[in-house]
Amino acid sequence: MKHSKPVSRRTRRTIARDLTLGLTLMTALVFSAFGAFYQVYYTNREAKNLESEAADIADEFAEVLARPLWNLDVDTVKQIAKAYLSSDFLSAVRIETNLEAYFDTIPEQPQKERWIHLKRDIVSGDEHIGTTELLFSRERIQAIQKRSLISILATIFLVTLVIGLGTHLLMKRMVAKPLDRLIAGIRTIAAGDYQLALPLEKQSDINTIISEINIMAREIDRRETDLKKLRETLKNIVDSMPSVLVGVDPEGRVTQWNREAQKHSGIDAEHALGCHVGDVYPFLAEAMGWVKQAIAERRPLKESKVTTRSKGDVRYSDITVYPLDSGSTGGAVIRVDDVTERVRIEEMMVQSEKMLSVGGLAAGMAHEINNPLAGIMQNIQVMQNRLSSDLPKNHEVAERCGVTMPAIQAYMQGRSMPQMMAMIMESGKRAAKIVENMLSFSRKSEAVTTSCDLTQLLDATVELAENDYDLKKKYDFRKIEIVREYDSKVPKVSCEASKIQQVFLNILSNGAQAMAENPGQTAPHLVLRVKMDDGQACVEIEDNGPGMDAAVRKRIFEPFFTTKSVGVGTGLGLSVSYFIITENHGGTMNVFSTPGAGTRFVIHLPVENTANENLTEQSLPPTTT
Ligand SMILES: Nc1ncnc2c1ncn2[C@@H]1O[C@H](COP(=O)(O)OP(=O)(O)O)[C@@H](O)[C@H]1O
Ligand SMILES: [Mg+2]
Repeated sequence: MKHSKPVSRRTRRTIARDLTLGLTLMTALVFSAFGAFYQVYYTNREAKNLESEAADIADEFAEVLARPLWNLDVDTVKQIAKAYLSSDFLSAVRIETNLEAYFDTIPEQPQKERWIHLKRDIVSGDEHIGTTELLFSRERIQAIQKRSLISILATIFLVTLVIGLGTHLLMKRMVAKPLDRLIAGIRTIAAGDYQLALPLEKQSDINTIISEINIMAREIDRRETDLKKLRETLKNIVDSMPSVLVGVDPEGRVTQWNREAQKHSGIDAEHALGCHVGDVYPFLAEAMGWVKQAIAERRPLKESKVTTRSKGDVRYSDITVYPLDSGSTGGAVIRVDDVTERVRIEEMMVQSEKMLSVGGLAAGMAHEINNPLAGIMQNIQVMQNRLSSDLPKNHEVAERCGVTMPAIQAYMQGRSMPQMMAMIMESGKRAAKIVENMLSFSRKSEAVTTSCDLTQLLDATVELAENDYDLKKKYDFRKIEIVREYDSKVPKVSCEASKIQQVFLNILSNGAQAMAENPGQTAPHLVLRVKMDDGQACVEIEDNGPGMDAAVRKRIFEPFFTTKSVGVGTGLGLSVSYFIITENHGGTMNVFSTPGAGTRFVIHLPVENTANENLTEQSLPPTTT
């Protein structure tokens, strides 16, 4: 699960911080307003006080001066003035009578804002003797103003500080800490620990949030478990499919990988998921074209019998691409089925059909040819007999005709008749051999089955091939390197030994002949294997000859199919062999071959029932039908 990324420093506003700041600011504002109001009110009051004090002093001054001025006692007047001036409140004085002015310290035009300027008449009895002007300094007010401002500011500062700090501590305790605990808890839950129950706090509203989150975590836990179960079930279903199933997104990245895909590619799901399908399963690299087409056309696409080669073996697969209709994600599922067995069985069925019809025809022809051929051969033999001088009857008939046997023989020799008859005889024998081969296509065979050890039979056949003079004329079997890979555990097989030997000999001589075709390229080399395979005995004969292409490979079991020149090959060897294995012994015969990569014949034969192993060979029922 992903965490939301931490908020940047600039936007790190918390409830606690905002509230603390707000409250502090509000306090500062309210106190400032009060302070300002107080400052104005207080200084106005002080100014009024000062003015009335000045008025009192001025009245008193005018009264005190009246007597000395009446007496014209200038000295006293001056002393009084000096005495009053000694206070720093009164700054200047002017005294003026009708006769003269005394003690004038007042400037021409005193500034109103700096001074309080007062004028008083000096009266003695009912007589006006003069006037006096007084100038009071306003500095005292300014000092008072300043002092009060400082104390107001100090008070505001202190109160704000106390309230700010207090709010900060309270907020931290009551808001920030519980929220931090809540956030830490949510993060733990988000990380997957749905069982965690967040502890309750003191505040009921936060507790409401906490219990809701706890309920939510339980619910997520339940759903997650359900989802996991569902995913597990789906995975099991997909894994139990016998086909390779690969899910891909539109870009070709793997989203699903079942067990069969793992088995075929050798790459497990963990590594395959997210990779490009062509990288983890090269076989499917070209399937991406169909994936795109299937998605675009919104219909499944199927490609049958796609061939692959592994270690010289050709395998066939059906590839089906199903586009996924899941809204935005899209993608497709690729299904791969190995249909090699099916294709082989199909080929085999076609093969046996062909063998049945062509084989039947050949057998029928052989029967028909057999009689005239026998007639030719017998009559030639009789002719040879009747020309020899050994029989008295020949001399008797010759004398009756007026000739002698030596004369007849001389004539015959002179016209090369004996050689011609020998040639007729020779050709007849060759035809008889072919006919005999063709006759083995007829189903009826008086099978004399014995219990055979296939390894012994194979070794005996190799020995036969090495010593066969006819074979030696064309290629020396002894020059071929023979590798034997025999599994000792193969039980005996109930079969007609001579027929099976004929099959082995056909395959061995074909192999030797094929390898002799391109001498010098690689040393001729035959591998003989006898093993158990799928409950059947299996014999493999592999050569490293030129191999054959698909067109030849498909036809080699057909009677009379040969690539060899007339007189060299009859095209009957493999067809007869096929018939012997499949029809007479209930086995199978297959060929695997690639041009340039040699040929491998594989024969499967049913083994004897192990329960009967202790019985005598004679009492074994024939296994062929
Ligand atoms: N080991 C082999 N390597 C290459 N081609 C082979 C091999 N065995 C058989 N063939 C091909 O199969 C054909 C049929 O073989 P077969 O039935 O024995 O007839 P024949 O040997 O008389 O031609 C051969 O002509 C040859 O083209
Ligand atoms: Mg042959």
